[in-house]
Amino acid sequence: MANQNLSNAKNAKNDEFYTQYADIQKEMNAYLDYNPDVFRGKTILLPCDDPEWSNFTKFFAQNFERFGLKKLISTSYAPDSKKYKYGYQPSLFETENPQFDIEKTQTHGKIFILERDKSGDGKIDVEDLEWKYLEGDGDFHSQEVTLLRNEADIIITNPPFSLFREFLAWIMETEKQFSIIGNMNAITYKEVFPLIKDNKMWLGATGNGKDMVFAVPEGAVVNEKDREKAARLGYAGNYTRLGNSCWYTNIEHGRRHQPLPLMTMEENIKFSKHKEIRERGYQQYDNYEAIEVPFTDAIPSDYKDVMGVPISFLDKYCPDQFEIIGATESEGKGFSKGLFDSQSTVTQPLINGDKRYKRLFIKKV
Ligand SMILES: C[S@@+](CC[C@H](N)C(=O)[O-])C[C@H]1O[C@@H](n2cnc3c(N)ncnc32)[C@H](O)[C@@H]1O
Repeated sequence: MANQNLSNAKNAKNDEFYTQYADIQKEMNAYLDYNPDVFRGKTILLPCDDPEWSNFTKFFAQNFERFGLKKLISTSYAPDSKKYKYGYQPSLFETENPQFDIEKTQTHGKIFILERDKSGDGKIDVEDLEWKYLEGDGDFHSQEVTLLRNEADIIITNPPFSLFREFLAWIMETEKQFSIIGNMNAITYKEVFPLIKDNKMWLGATGNGKDMVFAVPEGAVVNEKDREKAARLGYAGNYTRLGNSCWYTNIEHGRRHQPLPLMTMEENIKFSKHKEIRERGYQQYDNYEAIEVPFTDAIPSDYKDVMGVPISFLDKYCPDQFEIIGATESEGKGFSKGLFDSQSTVTQPLINGDKRYKRLFIKKV
């Protein structure tokens, strides 16, 4: 039983984190700043949601007219199918509705659709959401939800963390626009890195690797330090904070077109705020054909060959300024595009035998 509780808690940690309105708003605003018509005439699907109280549904329903949306669809996953059961209670909104079904509420997903002024008050907003039970449990893999994906122009959600790879693959089966929350660590997954390298997906404009706060179900076990950090950010109670969350998207935003202001190599060696650069300059790796640049703000603007930079560089990446050549070897997939010394038995980058962190390899365009 104790073990079961532990593993339940772990699953909850992975899959039952709920996104804050402000985080959604900040990111979507960045897309709108770049292109005010980004959502105009579009059908948006919010899968893996809990539409009755999801901030994704709330945000897009409230802004339906302002964004000029054509249709908003959101779907939820059946409580019985969730890995972690946290004492599910259907909402009053559902139980007071004539179509409420005491069994289906546990075993079926739900679909919420917004596309017309149902209430007749002259505007389309949250009051006009129409809902019904799905045929199945709302699993994104199901044919039912897959058909909704095919109908949509844009897919937006915070998918279950434990199924991130599968979810991304499901999206990439089509050529849709998307914006989804994930973990920075996923950058080096074999399903993720090639998309980033080929500019088919990039980091969003906000919150990357910084403080994103999530609501957690009542009673969920979360790291106390993260709970305290969330409280310090103004979210006390059933909240946690994840320092390595980010948005993955293929929707344009302004940040990715702002080149980083950088100094030349000579200037860095003289004036860098990093002692390591002033004292040691830029060193060659033992096992990769590139130089080590341990800080994004120390990338030399005039270096013409390949540089190894921290993964957090992606938050500042502007494809007009740098090209991503590869990354240090990971998951045995030839990520480094021939830069790796195949005689080396260690895949982490080495300098005089000392291991460094995983790196991205970039080159000036
Ligand atoms: C990280 S939560 C995010 C919820 C919501 N999108 C938000 O951000 O507030 C992921 C949600 O996906 C649901 N889920 C888990 N597995 C799923 C699956 N196979 N298909 C669809 N939804 C799933 C979870 O139960 C949970 O409600």
